[in-house]
Amino acid sequence: MAYAAFRSIGAYVPSKILTNEELATMVDTSDEWITKRTGIKERHIAGENETTSDMGVEAAKLAIERSGIDSSEIDMLICATISPDYFCMPSTATIISTKLGLGNVTAFDISAACTGFVYILSIAKAFIESGMKKNILIIGSEKLSAITDYSDRGTCILFGDGAGAAVISATDNKDEAIIDVHTGADGSYADLLMTPNGGTGSPHDSLEQEAKSCFMQMKGNETFKVAVRTLTKDVVEILADNNLNGTDINHFVPHQANYRIIKAVGDALKLTQKQVVITVEKYGNTSGASIPMAINDIYEKGILKKGELILLDAFGGGLTWGSALVPFSPLK
Ligand code: ACO
Repeated sequence: MAYAAFRSIGAYVPSKILTNEELATMVDTSDEWITKRTGIKERHIAGENETTSDMGVEAAKLAIERSGIDSSEIDMLICATISPDYFCMPSTATIISTKLGLGNVTAFDISAACTGFVYILSIAKAFIESGMKKNILIIGSEKLSAITDYSDRGTCILFGDGAGAAVISATDNKDEAIIDVHTGADGSYADLLMTPNGGTGSPHDSLEQEAKSCFMQMKGNETFKVAVRTLTKDVVEILADNNLNGTDINHFVPHQANYRIIKAVGDALKLTQKQVVITVEKYGNTSGASIPMAINDIYEKGILKKGELILLDAFGGGLTWGSALVPFSPLK
């Protein structure tokens, strides 16, 4: 049986920075409020003509280069995004695939909001273990600034843009293999976080409504409570299922939505500060890109070493959630 190994990581962050102070000139908020309630100090914003696929391409180039696997050997590409280049079609994955010159490989998007990267990791693992594919490029890329309402202080302070990518490939060595991935969803909480954007559930009836309804809307406080509960339950379960505990984990990489959520989950698991990876202060919430961007951060700082065990934990619109136990297994 083939196993799936997490070979490499890459990320891309647009150069433009939007600080809390700048946001305070746009809506009724302050650096103090945002820092205290979320831990976010700044977020990066893509250029006007920079698309989700453009950012995904840059992250993917790094992940491929670092994987030691030739791009001609990539046989599938999956992109997690809630801010695709085009709603409905074509998928952002097909655009990225062509920009990278990957040929006619299988390419598709999935929509699981902030849990997107854990979802595509589980799909890649399943395709490789089944023997159907050998080298899969997975990408989380988001231009959330394009679907953020900058007159709504409850959401515009949270979100940023960026992309992260990884190469997952087949191995015979079980010690290198992704140990487990859990995913789940509950549509009864769908209204907590949504873009009521003219889909068949809510067709547009005016141009004005069309513009506004493309933006994200969130019941932040309710989402916060469900997030802490779900994220904690999720990691407790995946650790127990695999006879592991918090001390076995080298790096806990949760979805970067809010410092207080991350702290609450880390404390519940009795993880040390050194184990918990936090990037929310500089990137804000980049949804499906947040986890690979955070993994890339510890990789580029030299903190993430070959053979170390990463615990992923995500939560997002849908509602969706997921966790994963991933040894870092680069070829070089
Ligand atoms: N600046 C100043 N005051 C504000 C702001 C702001 N930016 N936003 C809200 N307030 C006010 C509210 O109006 C409210 O005022 P009131 O008490 O007079 O009514 C007060 O601050 C408290 O508001 P809450 O919404 O209760 O604040 P909370 O502490 O919950 O923080 C936040 C809000 C940061 C949004 C938090 O709820 C949160 O992080 N939620 C979870 C986000 C999340 O995890 N999302 C899921 C993933 S995202 C995805 O899937 C795309």
